Amino acid sequence: MATGLMMMWWLMKNPPNNYPLAWNNSYEQKGQQWRGHFDLARYEVNLNLTGNVLELGSGDGNTASQILNKASNITCLDVASSSFQTMPIKDMSVGKIVGDARSLPLKDQYYSTIICRHVLTHARQGDENLVLQEISRALAPGGTALFEVFTPNDMRYGKGQEIELDTFLRGDDLIWRFYNEDELKDLIEKAGLKIQKIEVLARTVRHDGVEHQRESLVVVASSVQ
Ligand SMILES: C[S@@+](CC[C@H](N)C(=O)[O-])C[C@H]1O[C@@H](n2cnc3c(N)ncnc32)[C@H](O)[C@@H]1O
Repeated sequence: MATGLMMMWWLMKNPPNNYPLAWNNSYEQKGQQWRGHFDLARYEVNLNLTGNVLELGSGDGNTASQILNKASNITCLDVASSSFQTMPIKDMSVGKIVGDARSLPLKDQYYSTIICRHVLTHARQGDENLVLQEISRALAPGGTALFEVFTPNDMRYGKGQEIELDTFLRGDDLIWRFYNEDELKDLIEKAGLKIQKIEVLARTVRHDGVEHQRESLVVVASSVQ
C-alpha cells in the first residue's frame, strides 16, 4: 500500500492519542519480552540513584531491576497496564503507574533520575517532543535523564511500512522509529536539557548463521535548572 494511504488507514484505526495503547496487546500476547542486558552500571556515575528514580516506559522493568538494591525510591511508569501483570519485579516498594509519557501524571521537578530506554523509539513524529518536554518538567533541578533509541543502522530498520520518515508500522500495530545522532541531540536540547554524554552502542549478532547489526544511541542529559 502507498505510504500516504497506509498512514490514513492507520490513523483511522489508531487516533493520534491512542496508538501507544497497542502495547497492551503486545504484553497480553507475548508476556515478558525485553530480556537483553543493558549495562546501566556504565552510566551510574552520571545518575543520582539516591533520589527519586523513574523508569519511564518500564515494560518488563528490565532496567529498574538492575538498581533495586541501589535506589531506594523507584517508580516504573508505562502506558500498557498489561506490562505490570507480567513484570517480574514484585518488590512492593517499587511504585507502578499506568500513564502516558506524552502527558505524565507526575509532579514537576521531582525525579533525580529518569531512565527512558526505547520509548522515543515508539513515538510518532512530534510526540517525541511532548515526551522530552515532560521529562524536562519532571526532572528535579540538577537531575539527569538517560535515553536509548535505535539508529537507522540497526537491523530492525525498514521492517514494516514506512508511515513517517524513518518510522515504520509493523503488523502488530506498533511503530518503530529510528534516530540519527544530530537529530536526537537537537530534540533533547530543544526540550531544555543539557547533553552530558552521547554514545553509539554497536554490535553484530548472528541469527541462523547470518550476521545482523544492532545499533543504538545512549544519551545522558541533565536538567539545566
Ligand atoms: C521497547 S519497550 C522498552 C521497555 C523498557 N524500557 C526496556 O528497554 O526494556 C517500550 C515500552 O515503552 C512503553 N511506551 C511506549 N509508548 C509509551 C508512552 N507514550 N507512554 C508510556 N509508555 C510508553 C511501551 O508500553 C513499552 O513497555
